[in-house]
Amino acid sequence: MNIFEELGEKKSVFKCKKFLDHRFLPEKLPHREEQIKSVAKYWIEALNSVTPPDVTIYGKTGTGKTAVSKFARKQLEQIAKEKKVNVRVEYIRCTDYTTEYQVIARLCQQMGRDVPYRGWTKAEVVHAFRDLFKKNVFGKDLILIIILDEIDILLKNDGDGLLYTLTRTDNVSIASISNFVDFKQFIKPRVRSSLRDREIVFPPYNAQQLVDILKERSEMSFKDGVLNNDVIPLCAALAAKEEGDARYALDLLRTSGELADEKASETVFENYVREAKDYIEHNKVTDIVMTLPSQQQKVLESIIYLTKEKEEITSGRLYEVYKQFSKGDSVSYRRIFDFINELEMLGLISTKTISRGRGKGRTNIIDLQCEMGLLEDAIWNG
Ligand SMILES: Nc1ncnc2c1ncn2[C@@H]1O[C@H](COP(=O)(O)OP(=O)(O)O)[C@@H](O)[C@H]1O
Ligand SMILES: [Mg+2]
Repeated sequence: MNIFEELGEKKSVFKCKKFLDHRFLPEKLPHREEQIKSVAKYWIEALNSVTPPDVTIYGKTGTGKTAVSKFARKQLEQIAKEKKVNVRVEYIRCTDYTTEYQVIARLCQQMGRDVPYRGWTKAEVVHAFRDLFKKNVFGKDLILIIILDEIDILLKNDGDGLLYTLTRTDNVSIASISNFVDFKQFIKPRVRSSLRDREIVFPPYNAQQLVDILKERSEMSFKDGVLNNDVIPLCAALAAKEEGDARYALDLLRTSGELADEKASETVFENYVREAKDYIEHNKVTDIVMTLPSQQQKVLESIIYLTKEKEEITSGRLYEVYKQFSKGDSVSYRRIFDFINELEMLGLISTKTISRGRGKGRTNIIDLQCEMGLLEDAIWNG
């Protein structure tokens, strides 16, 4: 028998797994009606041929920012087509296009203007982009809404030049999406003042809301009756603890199902969810740690060492230990702060600033945020 046929015949708890994939955009987004409406309330201007205000969307990972923006985009494109209004909504994920040049070249390409990803000057690309707004044959102005997802990555990598250019292009409305509330620190005042943005905050989902979201998705993806009653509430509860992250909730549910298949079980039991949790955490930490630059790994090793020694970890003390660990091949004290920031963004550590009392200044105290065993495993065993 053909190996694929044989595997294909294996029983599965899934009816159609793709509905549990992150990239799948569901028809309904429970508990985000209000946020969708907020976006629509601004974007609706485009239907009257007025450039909508810029929009900024904040919220922790997995709170539905990407899904909502894509949903609103689909709806707007639909009605614009019906009403024959010249509106386009272009989506750019700034983890894929990390510089001003790349984003603008990408926009040109998405809009049918072939611009190379390297070789031209920035001015040439910007010129080609602005050319797209010249009146078309019907004399109708184009209004362009640009969704810049994970914009903090681009700002950190390439500065605010992109926003400078886009805010100075007529008929462009920017929708920025960020996981971090303080991403505007990367935008200089001259650009900030021309960003006419309205802010929309996405709160974390609570356990009950996650149950609703998971129910909706599970009906499409699992066969009838295979989920034990407690599976969805447990996934939801665990994800609610992880800052209301719907992506994590979906991962837990999918992985639990995969474990059931692996064990040739026709039912997904509650304990599979706990197993799934360990499995996902292990993979996540391993992925993060393995892709850290080696100097950064040394910083992390130093934090682990100090944690084991039960020492209070200040940046000064950390630098001392790090210097020993890196044996002469160390970066400057200044760079350590960048490393600390990045480790914190990755969720591996947390920092808090404490005051030592009058005249003694303030100090940063560092704490590990994930299980020591997991980290050690990731660092030393990959
Ligand atoms: N209200 C919702 N209803 C259904 N699915 C949702 C909802 N919110 C988020 N999701 C799903 O959870 C996952 C993470 O959402 P996403 O929009 O990528 O979060 P963010 O961009 O805020 O990190 C996606 O698979 C998305 O489809
Ligand atoms: Mg997103």
